[in-house]
Amino acid sequence: MAWEEAKLVAKHEWDEGLYTLTLDRALDFKPGQFVNLGIIIEGKRIKRAYSIGSAPGAPLEFFIVEVDDGALTPRVLNKSIGDTVLVNPRPAGFFTLDYVADARDLWLVSSGTGLAPYISMMRTAEPWQRFERIIVLHGVRYAAQLGYADELRRHAAERPGQLVYIPVVSREPEAPGVVHGRVTSALTDGSLEKLAGRLPDPALDHAMLCGNPAMLDDMQALLEERGMVINRRKKPGQITVERYW
Ligand SMILES: Cc1cc2nc3c(=O)[nH]c(=O)nc-3n(C[C@H](O)[C@H](O)[C@H](O)COP(=O)(O)OP(=O)(O)OC[C@H]3O[C@@H](n4cnc5c(N)ncnc54)[C@H](O)[C@@H]3O)c2cc1C
Ligand SMILES: NC(=O)c1ccc[n+]([C@@H]2O[C@H](COP(=O)([O-])OP(=O)(O)OC[C@H]3O[C@@H](n4cnc5c(N)ncnc54)[C@H](OP(=O)(O)O)[C@@H]3O)[C@@H](O)[C@H]2O)c1
Repeated sequence: MAWEEAKLVAKHEWDEGLYTLTLDRALDFKPGQFVNLGIIIEGKRIKRAYSIGSAPGAPLEFFIVEVDDGALTPRVLNKSIGDTVLVNPRPAGFFTLDYVADARDLWLVSSGTGLAPYISMMRTAEPWQRFERIIVLHGVRYAAQLGYADELRRHAAERPGQLVYIPVVSREPEAPGVVHGRVTSALTDGSLEKLAGRLPDPALDHAMLCGNPAMLDDMQALLEERGMVINRRKKPGQITVERYW
């Protein structure tokens, strides 16, 4: 499908270098999928994948962090309302609930902007209908990078007991309502068990992991120690992974 130009209609800065961008283009897709965004640099199109944070059919929304010296992000995040970016309007990817077998609880583990696909999922009815509880773990360096925290707290308030939101901050001291450390240390140091009531269990749960590849590897290893196995299309398991780089 041909690349299209889309206009930037909203730009929310969560923290320095961390934004949500909204475009004047909507698409049908499965929450958890991504599209490619592009810009032209010196006559060449540079493209990168971005998880869609919005719900299907709503203006496309992306949660993007600026990578220092990155080819695309400094330029895309420098755009102003009314400027255009290129969008490939063909959503792709298998990090969706279609490939997640039924389970009692769904654990959504993310670092940094890896939260985006879960925001899209939680803006639709499916996860709320399919899972007794949804436990969202979001690991960031600084508390200001806890994007979408208000929206997650709103979901939790609207569905008492169904959403457990656990923000984890690695480079600031412990603060009220926030766990200090990494999502992985939260699993091993008792804080996750305290907040979620129990730890992930292969007989009851499915875990989705998204973000930094080192986090994915470490978290996958911890979940495997607990008896969970990676989810493959031909061999279903309880851990589904999306690597950002
Ligand atoms: C399926 C998929 C979905 C993605 N969704 C998102 C998303 O929703 N939001 C988003 O910001 N990025 C997302 N990415 C990453 C994105 O495609 C780019 O790699 C990223 O924006 C950097 O592009 P760049 O050209 O500025 O940097 P490049 O010059 O390509 O530098 C790449 C390096 O930047 C670092 N990096 C890349 N992505 C991130 C990140 N998200 N957080 C921290 N460091 C990073 C890594 O060290 C990587 O090696 C996704 C990647 C994939 C494969
Ligand atoms: N230019 C700007 O203004 C600006 C602003 C913000 C970010 N940035 C850039 O954005 C990039 C970083 O983005 P980010 O902070 O969103 O992503 P990140 O580096 O992936 O960090 C997100 C969280 O993941 C944690 N983590 C890292 N490795 C892990 C592992 N193996 N297991 C468990 N958790 C792990 C980090 O902990 P630790 O803290 O312990 O590593 C942190 O809490 C860098 O390139 C940075 O320079 C730029």
